[in-house]
Amino acid sequence: MGSLTKAAEEERPAVEGEDEWSDEAVVYVNGVRRVLPDGLAHLTLLQYLRVEGIGDRQRGLHPVQESLANAHGSQCGFCTPGFVMSMYALLRSSKQPPTEDQIEDSLAGNLCRCTGYRPIIDAFRVFSKTDNSVYTNSSSESTNGQTICPSTGKPCSCRNEMDVDANEASLSLRMKRYSPLSYNVIDGNAYDERELIFPPELQLRKVTPLKLNGFNGIRWYRPLKLKQVLHLKSCYPDAKLIIGNSEVGVETKFKNAQYKVVLSVTHVPELNILEVKEDGIHIGSSVRLVQLQNFFKKIIAERESHETSSCQAILRQLKWFAGTQIRNVASVGGNICTASPISDLNPLWMATCARFQIIDVRGNVRSTLAKDFFRGYRKVDLKPDEIFLSVILPWTRPLEYVKEFKQAHRREDDIALVNAGMRVYLREAEGYQIISDVSIVYGGVAAVPLRASKTETFLTGKKWDSGLLDNAFDLLKDDIPLSENAPGGMIEFRRSLTLSFFFKFFLSVTHEMNTNGVLKDGLHVTHLSAVQSDSRPATLGTQGYELVRQGTSVGQSMVHMSAMLQVTGEAEYTDDALVPPNTLHAALVLSKKAHARILSIDDSLAKTSPGFAGLFLSKDVPGANHIGPIIHDEEVFASDVVTCVGQIIGIIVADTHDNAKNAANKVHIEYSELPAILSIDEAVKTCSFHPNTKKCLVKGDVEKCFLSGACNRIISGEVRVGGQEHFYMEPQGTLIWPVDSGNEIHMVSSTQAPQKHQKYVANVLGLPMSKVVCKTKRIGGGFGGKETRSAIYAAAVAVPSYCLRRPVKLILDRDIDMITSGQRHSFLGKYKVGFTNDGKILALDLEIYNNGGNTLDLSSGSPRTCNVSFRKCI
Ligand SMILES: Cc1cc2nc3c(=O)[nH]c(=O)nc-3n(C[C@H](O)[C@H](O)[C@H](O)COP(=O)(O)OP(=O)(O)OC[C@H]3O[C@@H](n4cnc5c(N)ncnc54)[C@H](O)[C@@H]3O)c2cc1C
Ligand code: FES
Repeated sequence: MGSLTKAAEEERPAVEGEDEWSDEAVVYVNGVRRVLPDGLAHLTLLQYLRVEGIGDRQRGLHPVQESLANAHGSQCGFCTPGFVMSMYALLRSSKQPPTEDQIEDSLAGNLCRCTGYRPIIDAFRVFSKTDNSVYTNSSSESTNGQTICPSTGKPCSCRNEMDVDANEASLSLRMKRYSPLSYNVIDGNAYDERELIFPPELQLRKVTPLKLNGFNGIRWYRPLKLKQVLHLKSCYPDAKLIIGNSEVGVETKFKNAQYKVVLSVTHVPELNILEVKEDGIHIGSSVRLVQLQNFFKKIIAERESHETSSCQAILRQLKWFAGTQIRNVASVGGNICTASPISDLNPLWMATCARFQIIDVRGNVRSTLAKDFFRGYRKVDLKPDEIFLSVILPWTRPLEYVKEFKQAHRREDDIALVNAGMRVYLREAEGYQIISDVSIVYGGVAAVPLRASKTETFLTGKKWDSGLLDNAFDLLKDDIPLSENAPGGMIEFRRSLTLSFFFKFFLSVTHEMNTNGVLKDGLHVTHLSAVQSDSRPATLGTQGYELVRQGTSVGQSMVHMSAMLQVTGEAEYTDDALVPPNTLHAALVLSKKAHARILSIDDSLAKTSPGFAGLFLSKDVPGANHIGPIIHDEEVFASDVVTCVGQIIGIIVADTHDNAKNAANKVHIEYSELPAILSIDEAVKTCSFHPNTKKCLVKGDVEKCFLSGACNRIISGEVRVGGQEHFYMEPQGTLIWPVDSGNEIHMVSSTQAPQKHQKYVANVLGLPMSKVVCKTKRIGGGFGGKETRSAIYAAAVAVPSYCLRRPVKLILDRDIDMITSGQRHSFLGKYKVGFTNDGKILALDLEIYNNGGNTLDLSSGSPRTCNVSFRKCI
């Protein structure tokens, strides 16, 4: 649908009772009531409680904050509020103290780059089982003497149930681990542990349908009845349904998708059903994954085990599906309709023979098997006038087994390299188990979840024993043809996963049948490890070091000075700096080509974009466009030729961050593409090197040593290391403002090298360095990525700031940062090494190539393909 015109909206027949739909969304931020005009009222208080709200240095730290600070759980502190809030949300939402496993699970969606996870987990372990102190101390009394639970704001009995002895024991354990601050740094008073109560207004508030207007004519509806959803969908066939927004959010933020009408269907009862029926479990499309987990746990406990094999497999798979934050909001229907090739659930819906219910705008319901629903890459069997209604998951029968598989780079919160759902239904005949029906479905190997049809056909009617494995493996290789250039790479590994998942399936089912007494022969002891559960004990780490104290502080384990500011969210980073009045926001215009000549830059569309204030290119640089730490060999703005994707071509300034980004997307650049060298090997082959970067270290006559016979063995080979993202948590950012009408330039930057900012900015503006000031209070990680790489952004921002005599702020979004800021170089090492039988190295010839330099062969004087050559013999 094109843009939503006022006329189109007026033409649309109103939904029954729509006049009474509210256009006000009420939320509480840190206990303060706010009315939001952006449709976020359905979110809970916890999502709107910020880290400063639970404790600060004035009122005292919350125990979660205090524990993290004292256990040295923060370094740069940029990730710290996230960890605090994940832990706080867990404590607030569990009536019983969480287990260590639950604590680790709740942190799976949080990343920390600098501290390491041991101190963080240590800090939070004290809140695990038996430590109820947070709740005993914080429950408050209502007027009628009842205890009010801090989690829900309702009367409850959790305080009465506390085991006081257990609390005291665990509290003293906690005290032993660290000494709490127990006072606030401002006035020295003991801090107040009162929790914020869930606002009664939100507790009592009647949920109302909402219709809200957003930026650029976006309309956001929250209907409360299926009838209303269907009516709106009939009026706006292109309306986007959303529930958790975990997929749509990515599309709009990173893929520039624009949806003019959005229907939030979180509160529609028909889409939220979770019902046990004779034909199976009926699961509404809007059911959140965490609700599904809880429901399945209950069903599994209540029903016969053979009925719930599918539920058990889905439940186990959900443990490794994203992190808690995502599972809390992401829905079953959202995952299915996204039809991602790496969805962890879609192979399981297919393998379990689940049926999908679909409803059209007239209210007609049709049903389709999950295996027929996925039509192509992110394409499903849904017409524009239809929406997804529910899933019917059939009960499993005796001798029917379902298993799930997922292999990712890491266990927690990672997307699958390959996943799978497998089911087999057996019948007994003449003392054997014969395969009646089987489903083998893989995800992550094609545009849609792929059935191993030939293998399924071969297996049907066969005896369940190890004799079927060899043929099945051969057929699986045909069924799942991962080509050499399949997206995602790691082809050999992923091929082997498809086979090993099936092998594991065979072993797991055999083991289960043996455990249940269905099969006499169990697994050989050598195979038992393959069927062990994936669970691991809670993480436990220790750090051993010698304490050598000197004076008052050296050698002592001190909480670092910013720790309290970081755990309370009071620590300020570049993006938090107060902007001067009249500040403009910047967005970069980046190259989309690896190697190309710029033919033309058309900003006519960008100029018409809301809030546009200017586009600045190489021609607008008042001083020198060439910069560099030593040699000035890098352009601030590419003037003629671009040499990589993500190279800065220009900078747009506008009144807001979003408007600047929108305008930057509208700059149209014509290129004439040039040949691109994309790997070290190609660079070596074509002798493409940076000039004057040779390095060669030689000691002794290495060739002579190799030939002398002294080396018992000589081996040679290659080692490769790929480029590495620096992955600081705080993206690159700078705020620059002119002082004395541009006589001086001041800036606050996130950098490890303020002096380089000063130098680069002075250079591009043609000012003496003494007229440029750079301040850095703290940075959210740098790891080398905020030295020369951050200075180039300051140089770029300085140009519009200086030319317009206005403050300009640039904070890169994560995706832009990763595209433009470069990486640690990739390396290729070629070695030849001679050594004795007892391991003594006698001669080494090592050449290291990286994508940042080159060298000459000093012996011959001819160009070499390495940037470091190291030759040594002993
Ligand atoms: C950090 C992160 C980690 C993730 N990890 C995983 C993972 O481990 N495994 C995995 O499989 N996925 C993962 N995902 C993907 C995503 O979370 C899931 O696909 C999720 O289930 C989508 O649900 P949602 O409610 O957020 O969908 P939304 O974003 O709200 O909607 C997704 C799509 O479904 C459509 N839709 C929703 N309901 C209906 C309906 N009733 N009728 C028609 N269309 C509908 C929407 O219009 C939209 O196109 C991850 C995502 C993120 C951001
Ligand atoms: S302290 Fe966690 S990212 Fe720096």
